[in-house]
Amino acid sequence: MDISGPRGTHDILPDEIKIWHKMEQVLRKTAEIYGYSEIRTPIFEYTELFERGVGGTTDIVQKEMYTFEDKAGRSLTLRPEGTASCARAFIQHRMYNQPQPTKMYYIGPMFRYDRPQSGRYRQFHQFGVEVFGTRSPAVDAEVITLMVDIVKRLGLRRYELHLNTVGCGNCRPHYRQTLTEFLRPLQADLCRDCQSRVDSNPLRVLDCKEKRCREILAGFPSILDSICEECREHFERVKSVLDLYGVQYILDERLVRGLDYYTNTAFELLVPGLGAQNAVGGGGRYDNLVAQVGGPDTVGIGFAMGMERLLLALEENQVELVDGEGVEVYVAFNSPELEPLANIALNELRSADIKAERDYGDRSLRAQMKQANRSQAVVTVLIGENEAKSGTYSLRDMDTGEQFEIEQNALIAEIKKILMK
Ligand code: HAM
Repeated sequence: MDISGPRGTHDILPDEIKIWHKMEQVLRKTAEIYGYSEIRTPIFEYTELFERGVGGTTDIVQKEMYTFEDKAGRSLTLRPEGTASCARAFIQHRMYNQPQPTKMYYIGPMFRYDRPQSGRYRQFHQFGVEVFGTRSPAVDAEVITLMVDIVKRLGLRRYELHLNTVGCGNCRPHYRQTLTEFLRPLQADLCRDCQSRVDSNPLRVLDCKEKRCREILAGFPSILDSICEECREHFERVKSVLDLYGVQYILDERLVRGLDYYTNTAFELLVPGLGAQNAVGGGGRYDNLVAQVGGPDTVGIGFAMGMERLLLALEENQVELVDGEGVEVYVAFNSPELEPLANIALNELRSADIKAERDYGDRSLRAQMKQANRSQAVVTVLIGENEAKSGTYSLRDMDTGEQFEIEQNALIAEIKKILMK
C-alpha cells in the first residue's frame, strides 16, 4: 500500500496550523468589517451545477473536475470553486426575497485535477466573497478594495492589481468576432491550446502565458474599443471609486479570467516572485450566473484567493504573521511627557477601526521604531517635542520610509490615505 497522500494534496501539520489560523483570523475579520457573513456549502454538488455555472468551454469543466457517481447513479463533483455553490444556495434558500444585496464569504478546500507544481495543487483552499443583487459600480470597487485590504492586513507590500472589463452579453459577441478575425490568420502559429481556443473561446488566447503566443498577439484589438456605452460607463465608475479609495490598479486588456460566467469588471491580484502561479486572487462580475443555473435574474460579483499562494507570497516576501495579526499603525513617542498625546492619537485611531498599538515599556524612540517594524505597522505616528508644540504629528510610511508632518486633526484622513495606497 502507498502510504503517501494523493498527488497534489498536502497535510497541514500541527506545527504549520498556527499560521493558517492567523491567516484565517485576518480573512474573517476583514470580511466582517466590510459586512460579509460566512456561508458553508457542501464539498460536493451535482455535476450539472458546475457544467452550467462555470461553463463547458473552461479548462475546469473540460479537464479538471473530480467527478464520480454515487451509489444511486447520480453524477457528483467535488467543488472546483465556490461561486457556483453560492449561487445555488442563493437560489435554493430564496435569499433574493431578502433585502438586497446579499453579501457572503467562504473559506474551504477546492479540488481541481491539474498538473501539480509550486502554487498549484489538486486540493487547495480558497477564501472568497460573493455579493448578489446589486449592479452598483461601488460594489465592484468595494469587493476589489476588500481583496487589496486583505493582502495589506497580512503584511504584503509587493503586489499588482490588474483590472479589465470583459463586456456584457450584448457587446462581447462583437468583440469576440473582431478578435477572431484578428486571430484567424495567426492561428497556425499559436500554441496547441490556443489553436483550439480561437474557435472555442478566443478571449482566452489573450491570457496565454506562452511567450510565443504573447509575441504573436502584439497589436491585438482592445476590448475597450468594442464595449457598449453601458459597460464603458460602468467601468469608468468602478475606476473612479477605486481612485477615490486610493486603490492603485494596472489596466490590463489581456485579463480575461478562466471561467465563463464573467461579465464587465474582471480583476486579478498578482504577487511578483511566485513564478508561473503568481495569481494570488481573482474575480469579477457575473451578471448572468444566477439565471444560468436556474434562478431569477440576479446580478453578482466576487473574488477568491488561493490560501496556499497567499502563504507562499508571505514567505517569498519574508513577512511573518505575528500573533493576532500585525498592527496597521504604531504610535511612537519620544518622552513620558508626550504619553497623553500618544494616547489621544491611539484612541482616535482605534475609534476609527484602525488597528493601532504603542509601547508600554518606556523604550527609546529607536527601540519603538524597531517594534513598529516587527509588528508590520504600515504607518508610524511619531510624536516628539516639536510636534507637540506645533500641534502636528509626523507620519512615517513604513514601506517607502517617507516622513511628513500633518495637522493633528487630519490624523485619520491622512492615515487612511496611506493604508489604502
Ligand atoms: P480562480 O481564478 O479560478 O477563480 O481561482 C481563484 C484563486 O484560487 C486563484 O487566483 C489562485 O490563487 C487559487 N487557485 C486556483 N486554482 C488553484 C490550484 N490548483 N492550486 C492552488 N491555488 C489555486 C475562482 O475560483 C472564482 N470562483 C473566483 C470568483 C469568485 N469570481 C467571482 N467570485
